[in-house]
Amino acid sequence: MEKKWWMDEIAYQIYPKSFNDSNNDGIGDIPGIIEKLDYLQDLGVTMLWICPVYDSPMDDNGYDISDYENIYPAFGTMDDMEHLLQETKKRNMKIIMDLVINHCSDEHRWFQEALKDKNSKYRQYFIFKEGKDGTPPTNWRSVFGGSVWQKVPDEDNMYYFHSFSKKQPDLNWENPEMRKELYQMINRWLDKGIAGFRVDAINFIKKDQRYQNGEPDGVDGLVACFDYCRNIPGINVFYDELRQETFQKHDCMTVSESVGTGYDIIDECIGDKGCFTMMFDFNYTNLDILDEDYFKPTNWTIKELRDKIYLSQTEIQKIGWSAPFLENHDQPRSINKLIKDPQYYELGAKTLATMFLMLRGTPFIYQGQELGIINFHRQSVDEFDDLNAHSQYHRAIEEGFTPEEALAFLNQRSRDNARTPMPWTKDQYGGFSKHEPWLAMTDGFEKYNAEDQISRHGSILEYYKKMIDIRKNRYHDTLSYGQFIPLILNDNIISYIREYNDERIAVLCNLTSQIQSYQLDNIDQIISNNIHDYTANQLQPYQALIILLK
Ligand code: GLC
Ligand code: CA
Repeated sequence: MEKKWWMDEIAYQIYPKSFNDSNNDGIGDIPGIIEKLDYLQDLGVTMLWICPVYDSPMDDNGYDISDYENIYPAFGTMDDMEHLLQETKKRNMKIIMDLVINHCSDEHRWFQEALKDKNSKYRQYFIFKEGKDGTPPTNWRSVFGGSVWQKVPDEDNMYYFHSFSKKQPDLNWENPEMRKELYQMINRWLDKGIAGFRVDAINFIKKDQRYQNGEPDGVDGLVACFDYCRNIPGINVFYDELRQETFQKHDCMTVSESVGTGYDIIDECIGDKGCFTMMFDFNYTNLDILDEDYFKPTNWTIKELRDKIYLSQTEIQKIGWSAPFLENHDQPRSINKLIKDPQYYELGAKTLATMFLMLRGTPFIYQGQELGIINFHRQSVDEFDDLNAHSQYHRAIEEGFTPEEALAFLNQRSRDNARTPMPWTKDQYGGFSKHEPWLAMTDGFEKYNAEDQISRHGSILEYYKKMIDIRKNRYHDTLSYGQFIPLILNDNIISYIREYNDERIAVLCNLTSQIQSYQLDNIDQIISNNIHDYTANQLQPYQALIILLK
């Protein structure tokens, strides 16, 4: 395996709207990120993924871009962005940006031109189609609910296509002129000195050109669009061109958001032939729900989680590089998702950190994860900001759940859980801002905030620093480049080995409230233990060990 610079990185994801507000208007901003770079450097992370900061009407918090080459004014200016690049460089940190090119905003100039004039070339930048007998062209449901087709105002029987919200029209990748404009934009950003991109919803760019109805899978009479516009055969042609025209010309890293991508096709994404340097694999991220619907919770087991992690690691290892993560801005907090016994939240946060930070691939930590932030508990659907929360609420009710049940699904699963302002101190609004923030704080931030944990021995933050140090410095080669080998000890223990040259490191995690036994010989030395006790061949509830093997 050839060594690449991005294999050494420890990444940290920032959701700018909720990270730090420098001018006290209640909205996080780029100067706010700059103020916290020392905190991030002290944590030990080396690369920042900044969620979209481009100009946007903020229907989907910036994933609806109206201008790829300007900054959303409340986040700052292009000068602020350049300043952020300089300041991170000084600290030996890199920046990757979010690249949202499956769709843009309906307020983007291209879409506005397309609406204004049917004969404009911009009409071909999007997907417009006529309806059939007074109904939309197909019965596909968009990711955020309702049809993927939105009626064009003032035109008869004409619709445009959106995989996500109706304010996010999909770009027409079948059009080479449109693709070329995107490539030029991408290259201009790379020329500015960013290290690469996280590539949003990229497996949606090819649509099934037959545009046929599917068998409805909900009471709304629609069918999830995934089978018709995600990972559609032929997408690799677009991937190849995208890579050749942009990424390949720069020594950049790219990580694809590959939701629903089977291991049989990951060679399109990563490895020698793939478009990206690494991928986010969601096959174990969404193990708690079915079909990405909050109202379809599963009864997952630890064994299932373990086996999905094994599969992800071993399959990706055959082809290329992965990007392990537990949280992001679309997921609830991992403590609530993965730790079944609330009594163990604090210890369990450390177990999860151990489990994921030693995996093969470039790890991504989501803001607040290093503090053990947990989900909130809202009293009413009106307290939710995210458009998908509202859509999931209505669909749950439509499917026969009570309003109380529907609200419980949101509290468990809503994306707002990850988007609450970062608690820096125990002060009002968590030191995030002096102004009431755009989204209410999470519960209990008075206890779980950065200031407290920086000074408290035994804190989750301190533990993250220790894990990062082990990976980045003390056992760098084995934990960065080592092979991943499943270590099956007990169905309730998530355990694996990393091996490089003659060094072998075992990671053992108990994510249950019971003592778990195992048999492991050849122990040389315990490198890390998240509790004080150690009994040979036994793991206490939520104990996590890192062991150097003989
Ligand atoms: C991705 C983003 C998500 C966004 C969606 C549409 O899944 O992570 O936040 O809503 O794409 O752009
Ligand atoms: Ca601000």
